[in-house]
Amino acid sequence: MVAAVPAHIAIIMDGNGRWATRRYMPRVAGHAKGVEAVRTTVEACAERGVKYLTLFAFSSENWRRPADEVSLLMRLFVTALEREVARMHANGIRLKVVGDLSRFDARLQEKIANAMATTANNPGLTLTICANYGGRWDILQAMQKLVAQEGAAADITEEALARHLSMAYAPEPDLFIRTGGEERISNFLLWQLAYAELYFTDTYWPDFDGAALDAAIASYQQRERRFGRTSEQLVETRKAS
Ligand code: IPE
Ligand code: IPE
Ligand code: MG
Repeated sequence: MVAAVPAHIAIIMDGNGRWATRRYMPRVAGHAKGVEAVRTTVEACAERGVKYLTLFAFSSENWRRPADEVSLLMRLFVTALEREVARMHANGIRLKVVGDLSRFDARLQEKIANAMATTANNPGLTLTICANYGGRWDILQAMQKLVAQEGAAADITEEALARHLSMAYAPEPDLFIRTGGEERISNFLLWQLAYAELYFTDTYWPDFDGAALDAAIASYQQRERRFGRTSEQLVETRKAS
């Protein structure tokens, strides 16, 4: 049996600051280098047949950082959109940005909307950038929409809630990767990670590349995804099909 490539990979891109500090550089130099790792990873995923790649770029908690770091991150986001969208479009990539975008300045919101509109019908990899995103925010906003629509508690089902999550267009992640050595979820896709395979690496995000991606995929391919069943049941279903 050929081991399957995960259809959806979700990554917490962590370790930019430490990558820079180790080199006696300002933290923002790590973020700039991190943008290069995004480009490399997007292309590596597309080459390997991954259908959905979701990257945590800015959490709802990251506003707590020093104001100059936050504003540099925003500027980097704008320049990355300006520089990368044409190339993504040429490569058939569909770009989505999810999160509470209302807190971003009007210019950034407009660039995001344009980039999404330009690439909306592309057939290739769907790249989702989570910006001002929080897993709790996502569940809450889905719940608010659902209550406004349904009203009756009995109509609030898992499926109905999932349809209102900000990434309802994608299957749930198969593989979750966190770089930078920390082993936590940090309020990323709380609902959608219920059955993802978790992979943690000490590699700092700016050093993440195709080989690091292959190591994560190889680890994923060793796992048995049981979804609550027993190993024996899985063998039986494989025999039957
Ligand atoms: C991740 O790198 C990027 C963002 C959260 C925007 P960090 O900036 O968290 O890097 P470390 O964890 O301080 O090394
Ligand atoms: C998580 O990284 C958020 C992003 C990568 C965007 P953090 O570096 O902010 O996470 P904590 O604060 O260490 O949990
Ligand atoms: Mg960090």
